[in-house]
Amino acid sequence: MQLDRQAGRALAGSWYKWRMADVIDLAGRAVIVTGASSGIGASTARLLHAAGAYPVLAARRADRLTALSGELAGALAVPTDVTDPAQVRDLAAAALDRYQRIDGLVNNAGASLHGPLDQVDLAEFSQLLQLNVAAGLAMTQAVLPAMRQQGFGRIVNISSGTTRRVAVGFGAYTATKSAVNMLSAVMHQELAGDGIAVSLLLPSVTATEFGDSMFTLGTSPRPGQVVHSPDYVAGVVLRLLRTGEESFDIPHGPEQPGLAQVPQPG
Ligand SMILES: NC(=O)c1ccc[n+]([C@@H]2O[C@H](COP(=O)([O-])OP(=O)(O)OC[C@H]3O[C@@H](n4cnc5c(N)ncnc54)[C@H](OP(=O)(O)O)[C@@H]3O)[C@@H](O)[C@H]2O)c1
Repeated sequence: MQLDRQAGRALAGSWYKWRMADVIDLAGRAVIVTGASSGIGASTARLLHAAGAYPVLAARRADRLTALSGELAGALAVPTDVTDPAQVRDLAAAALDRYQRIDGLVNNAGASLHGPLDQVDLAEFSQLLQLNVAAGLAMTQAVLPAMRQQGFGRIVNISSGTTRRVAVGFGAYTATKSAVNMLSAVMHQELAGDGIAVSLLLPSVTATEFGDSMFTLGTSPRPGQVVHSPDYVAGVVLRLLRTGEESFDIPHGPEQPGLAQVPQPG
């Protein structure tokens, strides 16, 4: 059954059409999560495990990944710097070797760069573009052969709600995430014919290690904003993996636990 755009918005802030027929069960699915050593990525890995999926944990801090995979039976830890193309290829190969398929990819690894643009260090900005933009595309390219062969795949790209405003003081970071928005929208269309659904998620402010742990859970850094928990955001990541919705913008303000649910057509 089709949800029209207006109904989708009214239900949960999702912009685009998706079909109930596209909704999948995550049990038994192999899903790569980049940036799984902390924050939203670690929460996503835990929720995937709770849903019966097999998370493939990728990040640079191997000790964190080893500890997390010890908690999550069936998970695979693959220490990876996603800005290194060879390590990205090895990550996809390790996931395939272990599970014989790659059902999902959550492009979550990322970092911030704050400060007025006239003071942004260009070398740091270039590194940020590699991490926040190019690495997600490289990860996507690395999993595509497996997903195309399967005729199925789910990819969630983590952007930021800051891209919805003129983010004075965050321009460098927001520019990288704006690029993610466009890449994700184009990928959504380019890959649909292969049975691969690409989703974009725009989290609001979230209490993680992001920006040297700049956000404290439950506080209000700006009027109308309330800092969310990474578990809350991860719940929406799982929803997008299940539905393949094109885009979802987590509303600022208090958490709405119902957002993690797959909405029923009205
Ligand atoms: N927190 C917020 O308010 C907020 C809001 C909107 C969007 N986001 C986005 O959400 C995503 C997750 O961030 P978070 O808030 O959960 O922050 P976080 O706790 O700092 O997590 C960032 C993750 O990225 C990984 N990472 C960084 N560089 C990497 C690299 N070169 N290779 C592999 N992994 C790398 C880190 O692991 P290692 O250091 O171990 O590599 C870490 O696991 C980011 O894309 C961020 O931009 C965050």
